[in-house]
Amino acid sequence: MHRIPLPPGFLWGAATSAHQTEGANENSDWWALENMPGSFCEEPSGQAVDSFHRWAEDMDLAADAGLRDYRFSIEWARVEPEPGVFSGEALKHYRHMIEGALQRGLRPLVTLHHFTCPAWFAGWADPAAPDLFARYVAQVAGILDDVEHVATINEPNVVAAFPRLLAQGPGGLAKGLPEPEETIAEGLVSAHRQARHVLRTALPEVQVGWSISVQDYQPDPPAVAAAAAYLYPRQTRFLLESRDDDWVGVQAYTRVRLVLDGDVARPAAPVSSAQRTQTGWEYYPAALGGAVREAARVVGAVPVIVTENGVATGDDDQRIAYTHGALTALAAALDDGIDVRGYFHWSLLDNYEWGSWGPTFGLVSVDRGTFVRSPKPSLAWLGRVGTSGLIPSLEER
Ligand code: BGC
Repeated sequence: MHRIPLPPGFLWGAATSAHQTEGANENSDWWALENMPGSFCEEPSGQAVDSFHRWAEDMDLAADAGLRDYRFSIEWARVEPEPGVFSGEALKHYRHMIEGALQRGLRPLVTLHHFTCPAWFAGWADPAAPDLFARYVAQVAGILDDVEHVATINEPNVVAAFPRLLAQGPGGLAKGLPEPEETIAEGLVSAHRQARHVLRTALPEVQVGWSISVQDYQPDPPAVAAAAAYLYPRQTRFLLESRDDDWVGVQAYTRVRLVLDGDVARPAAPVSSAQRTQTGWEYYPAALGGAVREAARVVGAVPVIVTENGVATGDDDQRIAYTHGALTALAAALDDGIDVRGYFHWSLLDNYEWGSWGPTFGLVSVDRGTFVRSPKPSLAWLGRVGTSGLIPSLEER
């Protein structure tokens, strides 16, 4: 049995996002994308898992299992359905969620942008985008006064690569993250800086960061020198931006082996289907260790919070085995002095996986007809690891 040396105050929880769980996010750009003729989405989000109405039940499940933290997002499209028109009702709703979490002993980590924008927003390449985001953040700051951790933007490196990801066609991220588009990346970086300034001015105690998709990139020996140029636009430049933050969010799921192709690095051929998860990514639990070490190497003294880690599988024993491997790698990084301050599993619930209901990442399954929630054994397992600070062997669980 390995002891995870959880430092005092270590965050231990699960994560969700608004669009993937709430349902009927009708004023968002994703809703429009899902419902347009010929959409790249296999299925729309519809009522999702109705967490807009059932968030209290979701939080009860997390708290009852022993989790101490809950990461969820605020939906910009609900808060600002028309440009400059802010919904007091939506803000009140999210304030209730924050209070509901605190009442249950769950510390909220609140994300302000998780992939979706209001349908009226022209995109991050629009020169007005950072100001528009900052204006929204200033409104939301009014309901965040007892929230310790705020993430401005979820996976800016994936958001900036999104148009190219779409062009890559079926298979999506399983083919590797395309190079982010520079104008979109610049818009996101400047939106993050402005949002951080707004938050720090309004809430002097708040700990601000953002969450980066950081996978465990493993170059073959000949590709080592070229790997830095491959990684710079895809994750390093976003991690460097975190040097002025209070923490950096790492979201790790898999490894990507890099090979040399001419004088550039590129992802190796995909592993066999037997080694892949429902999303087509290699099943590689130890990826979390490599990802937090790489993030720490780049950001220097800024602490890391694992804001997402998990596996898309229909087999909950495999989910426990994956998480066991990931936490063992995390424990080794902590033992080596890497400053990690928290772990959030993705995801609390089976939810809408950006175009499809197929991949199931949840610690809790949801009947999409009745919205009845059924906790899987992995939820109690994760709760026990957090409360005991021990990773039991797989036989002992
Ligand atoms: C995103 C989540 C997503 C998960 C699994 C992350 O890229 O933040 O919204 O569901 O990975 O694909």
